[in-house]
Amino acid sequence: MEDIESFGYLALGVPDLQRAITYLSDVCRLAVVDQNEGMAFLTGDERHHWFRLEVRDEPELIRLGFQAAGPDSVERLVARLEKAGTEVAEVPADEGINGAVRFLDPNGLTLEVYPEMSVAAVRPPSAYPGLHMLLHAVVQVPDPLASTRFYEEVLGFRRSDRIAELVVFLRAGNGYHHSIALARGGRTKLDHVAVHVHGLDDVMRVRSHGMATGTLSDDVVRHTASGSISVYLRDEVNDLGVEFCTQHAIIDDIDYRGRVLVPSPTTVNIWSDPFPAGEWVRDPTRVDGTRGATDAARTAIGPVPVNNS
Ligand SMILES: [Fe+2]
Repeated sequence: MEDIESFGYLALGVPDLQRAITYLSDVCRLAVVDQNEGMAFLTGDERHHWFRLEVRDEPELIRLGFQAAGPDSVERLVARLEKAGTEVAEVPADEGINGAVRFLDPNGLTLEVYPEMSVAAVRPPSAYPGLHMLLHAVVQVPDPLASTRFYEEVLGFRRSDRIAELVVFLRAGNGYHHSIALARGGRTKLDHVAVHVHGLDDVMRVRSHGMATGTLSDDVVRHTASGSISVYLRDEVNDLGVEFCTQHAIIDDIDYRGRVLVPSPTTVNIWSDPFPAGEWVRDPTRVDGTRGATDAARTAIGPVPVNNS
């Protein structure tokens, strides 16, 4: 049994707190649970929070929180972390979470694991009912493969697919293809966070809302690795990209180790390859297959061929 069950929440530093609250509530359709001068909590279901926002001078990934399978799992994780020489701090009960521990991953990213988070009796009415769960975070790190061993051997994640040495997808106990992915980038930072929605109708409604609000950063794609059908919204001011996806694969075989995928536009979006051009004049701005909404996607696309025509 995996000791980490699922991705739980993320704590973000944002320079413009009110804008982030408006983006996550009006655009991403989450509910504001609590808010004061320098902090806010938002959720998309009965759990106390998916997002914890704090005011910072610059956008910052403060930490990622993961739900453990239970109190025994936290104890086992602490034992493995200490054996590996990782310092572990116990966290006082706070904001719906009891019994949490915090530690740094090899990239200096703070991770928190907790046995449970408080839940409300019903979903807040302002949260869009199509939201299913907070699915994953993709984090940019200098060397994804170097820290994968820590995630696998110490934390107990299992590798799903990877894209060359560029992106590694890691799954937790709930079996979703990835609860966290590490993507090669210049420094450790959040690439995007993903919300799973109930179906394609919800993805398309978010797409329409993204177009209406001017926040759609990439149109519908289907990822080769996870099978997700996704759209991406983005708030540039707070550097906050949110993916909305459905049909994200659940892997039942705990020994599944995935594929080593080749970086390419079709790896990022299996639909990106148009039919060969014929007589009809082709508009390269309509379908170029080489955009990618996020830094991680652009990394996984690989070098873009130069078009000299
Ligand atoms: Fe994603």
